[in-house]
Formats: sequence, C-alpha cells, structure tokens
Amino acid sequence: MPRFYVTTPIYYVNDAPHIGHAYTTVTADALARWHRLMGDDVKFLTGTDEHGLKVKRSAEANGLTPQEQADRYSARFRDTWQLLDISNDDYIRTTERRHHVAVQALMQAAYDNGWVTLGTYEGLYCVACEAYYSEGELEDGLCPVHKRPVELMKEDNYFFRLSALADRLLEWYERDPAAVSPEHKRNEALGLIRGGLQDISVTRTSLDWGVQVPWDSSHVFYVWYDALINYATAAGYGSDPAQFERWWPAVHHLIGKDILRFHCVYWPALCMAAGIDPPHRVSVHGYLLVGGEKMSKTAFNQISPSDLVPVFGVDGYRYHFLRDQQFGPDGEFSYEAMVARYNADLANNLGNLLARVSAVVQTKCGGIGPAPAPDSPLARLAAEVYRSAADAWERVSPSEALEATWRLVRAANAALEEVEPWKAEPGPAVDAVLGDALEVLRLVAVLASPALTRAPAEIWRRIGLQGDPGEARLPEAAAWGGYPGGLPVEKGAPLFPRLNG
Ligand code: MSP
Repeated sequence: MPRFYVTTPIYYVNDAPHIGHAYTTVTADALARWHRLMGDDVKFLTGTDEHGLKVKRSAEANGLTPQEQADRYSARFRDTWQLLDISNDDYIRTTERRHHVAVQALMQAAYDNGWVTLGTYEGLYCVACEAYYSEGELEDGLCPVHKRPVELMKEDNYFFRLSALADRLLEWYERDPAAVSPEHKRNEALGLIRGGLQDISVTRTSLDWGVQVPWDSSHVFYVWYDALINYATAAGYGSDPAQFERWWPAVHHLIGKDILRFHCVYWPALCMAAGIDPPHRVSVHGYLLVGGEKMSKTAFNQISPSDLVPVFGVDGYRYHFLRDQQFGPDGEFSYEAMVARYNADLANNLGNLLARVSAVVQTKCGGIGPAPAPDSPLARLAAEVYRSAADAWERVSPSEALEATWRLVRAANAALEEVEPWKAEPGPAVDAVLGDALEVLRLVAVLASPALTRAPAEIWRRIGLQGDPGEARLPEAAAWGGYPGGLPVEKGAPLFPRLNG
C-alpha cells in the first residue's frame, strides 16, 4: 500500500493563527484526504514550535512563563484546526518529552558522526527570524524579512559543519530532481548551495528555553534545529524504529517560501549528518498577501480563519483558499474574490445542480432518482475529469484539481439547461438527464471531498446514498454508473445560500 506522510511547518506560539498559517494546514489536510481516498496509508502531522528566544520574549511581554505562553497559543492553533475540520493524525508540541528524546538522539548521532564541533560565534541576529544574518544580507541595516534592527550576539556554540556537506547536497538534488518543487524553488535552493555554505551554530548558551545538548549541559539547541527534527520525532525517531522505517521514506513537507533555506538546505544536510535519508519531498508555496504585504503582527494586517468561517462556512472557507490560491506563487487575499468564488462555484454551480435535480425528481419522477445512462456523453468527461484531478492532486495543485472537478458540475448543469426536464413530459429523456446529473452529484461529492468536508455527505444523503463520500475508494468510486437509481431523493434547503457582496 503506498504511504503518504504529510507535514505542515510547526507554528510559533508567539502569534495567533491567521489565514496564512491556515493556508498551509488546509492544503496539507486536502492532500491527506485525497491520499486516503486513493487508499494510501496516510499520516498527517501538524503542531507547534515552542522553544527559542522569540517565544521566551513574547511570554515575558505577556507576563507569562514560556510554558504558559506555549500552552495558551498551542491550544489556539489546535482550536483553529478543529474549526477548519483538519484531520491531522498527530499534533506535535516541541516541549513534549518524546520530542526532547528525539532531538537529543538525532543531534547526538550527528555529533558522533563528527559533523558537530565547538567554536565561537559572533554575528548579527534577528530575534523574529531566530537567525543570524551577514552584513550583506541586511537591507538598510535591517532584517530583510522583518525590517527590524538586528542584534550583535557572541556565543560559544557548537557548529554544524554544513559547508562540508555541500557536495552531498548537490548530489542529492541531482539524483532526485522531484525532491523539491516547484522548479523555481528547487533552483533557489540550488543557488543557495552553489553560492557557498557556511558552518552554522546549532546551540545557545544565552538561553535555557530549549532542548539540552546531551553531551554539554550548558547549551541548549538552537530553536530551528530543535524544530526541524519534529518531523522525525513524530515518525518515531529515537523511540520506535519500526514506525520510523515505515513513515520516513514517505515524508512530504509543505512549507511557505520563508523557510525554504531551513527545509531545503539545512534539514536535508542534518539528516545526512545523522545518517537518515533526506526528506522525500518538499513542496514550497508562496505568501498569502493582504494589501500587498505578508501578514504579520507588526503590520496589523492579520485575518483569522474565525473571522471568515461564520460568513462562508467551513466548506466555503476551504474551497476558496484551495481553488483560488495557486500552490507556488504569491497571491493576494481578497474578500470580494472569496464572495465571488463562493457564489459562482458553490451557490450557483454545485448548489444549484443539487437544488434543480432534487426539485425536478419530485415533480417528474415521484421523488425517486433514476439511474444514469451507461452511454451518457458525460461518462467520457467524467473519466477525463478524474484523470486530470488525480494528476493535479499528485502534483500538489489543488486549484487545478478543483477546476477540473467543477468542469463536470458545469457540464451537468448545461445538459439540464439543454433538455429542460422541468418543462418536459416525464419519460426516458427526462430520466436520462436526471440520472446523469445524479451520477455527477455522486461523483463530484467524492472528488470534492478533500476540499469540502461537509457538503459531500449531505449531497449523498439527499440523493439517497448511504455513507460518507470521504470514505469512498478511488479509482473505483470514479467509475461512471455508481449511482444505482431507484433511491429516494430529498429536496432540502439551499446547500450554499447565496452571499451578497
Ligand atoms: N516555527 C517555524 C517553522 C518551523 S518548521 C520546522 C515558523 N513558524 S511560523 O509560525 O512563522 O509559520 C511559518 C509557516 O506558516 C510558513 O512557512 C507558511 O507555511 C505559513 N505562513 C505564515 N504566513 C504566511 C502567509 N502570509 N502566507 C502563506 N503562508 C504563510 O516559521
């Protein structure tokens, strides 16, 4: 059985969840649901990143201990994922004991293999990034990401000998061209490696809010090294070798472009140093911009999923971000575009299809849904749509997958408009077009279930089918003719009430 182990970044507990964080998590959730439909063995991980200076300072500013800060904000992320029907199988917090054990084991392995050595570090540090910068990387003397002053820091540190791993990293990129996608992000990572890698400091003595270095208790690990290892922890590294062997070869990281260097350079190198395989896949997406800028606490432009779900519902929320935000480039968030997408695809296309079919089945077929025609012209389209959608989900392109799926919805509506069964006498022509439309509803409910977590089950219920389309199995469930006919069809309230802009 193919395996799919999908991860999101673990989110810092200094900030409240916003639609940028949710974008990655909803995408990971949709991919997990797609792979479950395909019958794959799926593990889906998300969680929170709780150590480091940034969290410690936020806690101080809030009058909390770092642990209290972490508990409070980690719970907010967890609640947000519940609100959005996120189906993660595990939720990791880096303050958990299982994570301390794994970090110590993995870093000890890198140390024992000779890749970690003691030295002194002096550099310009951005606390918000938890990263050192060279003079050349600063913009007007400020951190290029946060546009904030950096601080001069000097410490005795253990260094990871990253520079000595450049050739092995390049070999890995060459051997596995699909490891990092999309292509231009892969090229960006290759550019960083070819541009020359410096050894990096992986421990701190100036801070105690972190995982202790097992061979030198005066140090804790630098938060990024602690954080990256979460993916291995949750797979069983250092505690359950059989589980680790099962999941690690199937790991697929989703990340925003802000953390490309960490995931596409430092992390694969650290895996090599510790003697495990570098990640199987890393898919990098762009920023969701608000008013042309990345959301941040300091820009006061954060939008929370809980601002939008009451208006659009969970399905409307998820559908918009998956359909309108292409995975890869940056995209601007627009409330108007969200309303327009909801009205066009959900209220008008899908909602209307269900409403029309269930109304006409009452008046022309006595409330009993007819079977689809085996030789329907929609059968060929359905096969094409399935192929395109499957291909797009595999390529981590939810927007294309949903675009393909809605072609079928539009075609079924067009067929109804052509035949106009509401005006026609009951008979074979009416039965055929309604049967086809019911079959499209059955199929679309399955194919849309990675994106929509609520409506598909309701569609099935109303057309008389039992069970949950999210638990169907592909490709079998995509074969034309699955709607048996002869089932009671229910007319109900609009599935997606229209919104006024
Ligand atoms: N804690 C680190 C990640 C450690 S992973 C081992 C971190 N956390 S974060 O809270 O800042 O979240 C970063 C991730 O949230 C991004 O990589 C991205 O996936 C998501 N996003 C945060 N803001 C975003 C946008 N404005 N747009 C899209 N995604 C964004 O970095």
